Parts: sequence; C-alpha cells; structure tokens
Amino acid sequence: MPMDLTTDEQALLESDNPAVRKSMELLVRLGDIYGAEEFVEIGSAQASGISYKSIGDPGVEFLEGFAAEGAEVEVQTFANPAGMDIDRWEEMGVDPEFAKQQRRIVGALREMGVTVSFTCTPYLAGNLPGPNEHIAWAESSAVSFANSVVGARTNREGGPSALAAAITGRTPKYGLHLAENRVPTHRIDVDVELQNQADFAALGSWAGRIVEDGRPYFAGVDGATTDELKALGAAMAATGAVAMHFVGGVTTDEEPPTDLETLEFGSAELEAEYGELNSTEDTDLIVFGCPHASVDEIGQVADRLDGESLDRDLWVCASGAVKSQADRMGYTETIEDAGGMVLSDTCNVVAPIEEMGYESTATDSAKAAAYLPGFGEQDVHFDDKLSLLEEAIE
Ligand code: F3S
Repeated sequence: MPMDLTTDEQALLESDNPAVRKSMELLVRLGDIYGAEEFVEIGSAQASGISYKSIGDPGVEFLEGFAAEGAEVEVQTFANPAGMDIDRWEEMGVDPEFAKQQRRIVGALREMGVTVSFTCTPYLAGNLPGPNEHIAWAESSAVSFANSVVGARTNREGGPSALAAAITGRTPKYGLHLAENRVPTHRIDVDVELQNQADFAALGSWAGRIVEDGRPYFAGVDGATTDELKALGAAMAATGAVAMHFVGGVTTDEEPPTDLETLEFGSAELEAEYGELNSTEDTDLIVFGCPHASVDEIGQVADRLDGESLDRDLWVCASGAVKSQADRMGYTETIEDAGGMVLSDTCNVVAPIEEMGYESTATDSAKAAAYLPGFGEQDVHFDDKLSLLEEAIE
C-alpha cells in the first residue's frame, strides 16, 4: 500500500524547489520499499558522506549542485567527520588538492544550512536528542548510541536519505521508529570483567559478527561509562549492522524475553577477539577518538603523557566542541608537547591516511581496527589506551 501523505507532504512532493521535490521523492520511494504507512517529523538529522576521500569529485559536484538548486535543511543537521582538520590540515600532512576539494564540500554544506560540526559524536557536541524523539542520523556509531543510550529513534540512514530527511524535516516511519521493533533479538551473557573501553569494544566486535543486524541484550555487565557504551555500540555497528542494543541494569531495567537465543562471552572469547583485531605490534601512528573522544578520554591521555615524549605520531580525534574544552583544560598542550596532535573535524578512517606515509596504526577502537585495513591500507594493533601509550613513550 502506498504511503499516506498529508496535504503538506503532498505539497513537498510537488514543490517548485527541485531539491525539496527530489528529497521527498526519495523518501516516499524508501517508505514504499520498507512498508511505511506514514511519515514522522524529525528533531534533527546527521549528514554523512562528507569526506572528500569517501565521495570524491562526483560527491563534491553533487553537493554543490544540490545547494545551487535550493537545498536547505529544515531541522538541526550536524555533519559527520571530514577528511581533514579544517584548520590544521597542513600540519596533518594533507595534500593541498585534497584540502581544496574538502573545502568545497564545507562550502556546499554551509550553504545548505548544515552545522559544520564534523563529528560522529554529535551527542557530546551540542546535539543531544530527547528520549523517543524521532531523528534521521547516518553515522552508524551515533545511530547506535542515540537508539540504545539516549532512547531516541532512528534507522541507520544512508547519506542521501539523511540529507533528504534534513531538507524535508521528516522520515518514513518504519524500522526503529516503531516501538514494536525496539526489542532484543539475542541475549549475551557476559561472564568476564570488562576492565576498560577496549574490552567493551572487543565485546562489541565479537557480538556484531554474530548477531549481524540483530538487537542484542547484554546481561552480566556490572556498569559502563558513556565512553564504554560508545565503544561497544561503534564496534557492533562496524563488524555487524547493529543499530540498537540493551545493557541490562545500565541502559535498561527491563528483563529481556525468556525465549531469546543465548550466547556466552567469557575470558576465552575476550582473548580471542583481541587476537582477531590485531595484525601487527609494530606501528607508526597511534589514533584515539573513534568514535570521537570525550574530554575525559583526552584527559586520560594527557595525564599519562605529562612530561613524556612519544617515539611515534599520535592523533587524538574529537569534535571541535570537545577539543576547545580540552584546550582550556591544558590537555591539548600536554599531548602536543609530548609529540601528539589533538585534531578536530576528522578521523583516522576518513582522512587520507594511506597517502600520508602511515602503514600501521595502533588504536583502542574495534571499529577503527575493523575498517583501517580496507579504508586506510593499514596493519592494526588493537589494545587499551594506556598499554598503547606505554609502548610508545620514549
Ligand atoms: Fe567516527 Fe571515524 Fe570512528 S567517523 S566512529 S571516528 S571511523
């Protein structure tokens, strides 16, 4: 059955503005494919496909053309990371031609009214939705955090559908916008103490491969910080396509259904997952902040590096909003005195890392460990932050 459109929605479909009309056509097609009966208005959107590395010249031309056709966002829309720190790209070693094309993307987004925040943690940087608020976010770790930790409602949008939702202010109501779909599909009994953010990432990496696009319920996790939850969700979204999960006693007090398929995660699985995520111990770059780091994470790195010197490069990636707090706390200065860089706007996966001379990367992110071999031609060393710093302090 075709979607039921209100008078306003029919008007958007027949708009004189080609960007609005094309956006609405795309969303109606999507809604029909997924069996949505109606649209739902959204509180915010998140645009992805922002890095020149990901979209190349055709992407630049599409965004500029769309802006010229009159595309303008209706709701607050944050941008996902770009291919470089917009201000410090030369210090990063980014090629000037790449920087020129990336700046064209920034210009087109700004013309459309997109907030050029360039972060995958909008919820740490000024865009925190409310519980049950409908949103259209595109970056998979942010989608997972919004659904699982915040309780907002979003499907895992693609770049074009998120932008179309931003321009029309609505999205088809299906999938995780519906309460009946926001329930666990698997139970995972965690029978090992998770000691740090990397352990949570390893659990997520293991779970994502097994449950694929399911919605796991974790039992036996004693507690988790915001940073640990973002690492868990990011990993599952990378090795699987998990867009929502539940951590019993942490993100939910509800008991899971009793008839779920049950899996066990113990010390043997944890150790094996570290093995799975490691392909080298010899690295020329350490990267933290995948997903983008919180002030607390940057503070942990600064505390360990105070007065020390690193034998290899270090990037700590964060949103501009978080980095400015780290600057004020003196964390950035401490890290950069030791030889690292605190970067905003970008990350190790969407920056042209393979063209910058790096061959092997150390990270505490299972998402980065999963993506870097393919997206950045990197060998990977995965471990927790403090262990990785220990190895690199001269
Ligand atoms: Fe964010 Fe880049 Fe990781 S977009 S989740 S820091 S791969």
